[in-house]
Amino acid sequence: MKLARNVFKPLAIGAPSPFRELPVRLERMIHFVPPHLEKVRAKVPDLVAQVDVVLGNLEDAIPADAKEAAREGFIAMAKAVDFGTTGLWTRINALNSPWMLDDLIRIVGEVGDKLDVVMLPKVEGVWDIHYLDQLLAQLEARHGLKKPILIHAILETAEGVKNVDAIAAASPRMHGMSLGPADLAASRAMKTTRVGGGHPEYKVLADPGDGGVRAIAQQDLWHYTIAKMVDACAANGIKAFYGPFGDFSDAMACETQFRNAFLLGCAGAWTLHPSQIPIAKRVFSPDPGEVAFARRILDAMPDGSGAVMIDGKMQDDATWKQAKVIVDLARTVAAKDPDLSSLYNL
Ligand code: GLV
Ligand code: MG
Repeated sequence: MKLARNVFKPLAIGAPSPFRELPVRLERMIHFVPPHLEKVRAKVPDLVAQVDVVLGNLEDAIPADAKEAAREGFIAMAKAVDFGTTGLWTRINALNSPWMLDDLIRIVGEVGDKLDVVMLPKVEGVWDIHYLDQLLAQLEARHGLKKPILIHAILETAEGVKNVDAIAAASPRMHGMSLGPADLAASRAMKTTRVGGGHPEYKVLADPGDGGVRAIAQQDLWHYTIAKMVDACAANGIKAFYGPFGDFSDAMACETQFRNAFLLGCAGAWTLHPSQIPIAKRVFSPDPGEVAFARRILDAMPDGSGAVMIDGKMQDDATWKQAKVIVDLARTVAAKDPDLSSLYNL
């Protein structure tokens, strides 16, 4: 195991030192863009004002014969657009693909100074993170980059889920992790054909009551994995995200999945369709009523200790900490979102 004092040394001579603390960024939605499509790229300058992160997707959903066009389209888009405080990420192809090495070499070489995060698909263990970590350091050194590029892992293989704690702790370059429900379902041999969300046949059936009526409730296929991912991420100071929700026609199911993830500790989700942007914005920005109540807790316990009653509910050091999570998030949202800022009254 590495000595603690060596963890923050650059992995290549001339590469920037890893961050000791992750930059505080609002990342309620990671909006996926297929960069090989010129007409989609043309909309990116408008998109920048609406989303927290723009991600150029090079992996799944990009046809094999468009991989190079997607890579070059991403580079053109990154050069042409001023992203301001909106994050710029890319999802590169998997480590075992014929495209990944050139994805990274071209993109870091051309637009490494604008790139915040590389999303790495199909991460199975620390070895995948260590490889990318080293390669990024070499490329950062070669191109004289001043700011380290972060790594975001997709949790989408059974082996990755088994190793999730070690993956979260693999490098100070780790930004966070997203659930990849489609690949994960395949990897686990789950019998589904969906991208995220529940399944009507995954349910709990109550015992027959007096009239023989039996209540049925659909259960959440992803609860266990999200909870495990959130613990691994929180324990290592990185962020957890719900991934994609593929049924664009079911906004209510999308919102419900996103909200469960938010309540369990996730910071955001992927948006694959413009209709999902307002959903993610609504879900991953704390509710103004909750923010107001959380502020009352903080105000009632200025030093964060003791016990007080508010509206008949007991508050103590632990609820103070919960309130602080909500108010801190509201402040981060307010700094970017003027509409919510006035609702939060911060
Ligand atoms: C995302 O990449 C997924 O496989 O769900
Ligand atoms: Mg996937």
